Amino acid sequence: MGLNSVAIDGPSGAGKSTLARRAAQALGYLYVDTGAIYRALGLFALERGADPADEAAVEALLPQAEIRMEHGGDGTQRMYLCGEDVTEAIRRPEVSRAASLVSAIPAVRAYLLEMQRDLARRHDVVMDGRDIGTVVLPQATVKIFLTASPEARARRRYKELEERGLSQPYEKVLSDIVERDRKDTTRETAPLRQAEDAAVVDTTSLDLEESFQALLERIKGGLGR
Ligand code: DC
Repeated sequence: MGLNSVAIDGPSGAGKSTLARRAAQALGYLYVDTGAIYRALGLFALERGADPADEAAVEALLPQAEIRMEHGGDGTQRMYLCGEDVTEAIRRPEVSRAASLVSAIPAVRAYLLEMQRDLARRHDVVMDGRDIGTVVLPQATVKIFLTASPEARARRRYKELEERGLSQPYEKVLSDIVERDRKDTTRETAPLRQAEDAAVVDTTSLDLEESFQALLERIKGGLGR
């Protein structure tokens, strides 16, 4: 029997990474967070003093950016950039912005494509991103589009920020999400869109546990388990 791949795409804030990681653990598959690869490259551009929006500058850096991932048995993924562990550093807000900019560069996407496909050739994977079912793994065994209304995602984000002592007005959180959705879905390179053969899991009215059960059920159905 060949290897299985589960592609999970969707907008930011739908709970993708948490749910995809748990699903991978439940299935015994490797969890691959592809956003972390773009984040590592965004960090590299910042470290090298390159403008992450400057296509030529970022493209010139690609051959020097040695990006590696290591996967622990517990579903954790550690990221290494030129040998240095950058797992925590890539979560900084300025790196989020840089990642978003470098991810819009066609040469970057082409360069990182093979790295992502290679993982799926060697392992059963649950891969989360924006273009996994459409571009990276168009032949994925199961494709899920995980989404929730902007308001539901804003409420979750609002709570999360509050818990971290970083409160922002709800209206601001919501308008940021709407703006990010607009950017993600209208950008020229690999815009976020649902694969035609993807199953939609909408978590708007579900809590985390219910979302997980709904996702796992869909995946298992698709895998024939
Ligand atoms: O999911 P995330 O926030 O860690 O992703 C970081 C950035 O990378 C985000 O701006 C979207 C982008 N990204 C992408 O373009 N394609 C992917 N497959 C994954 C992430």
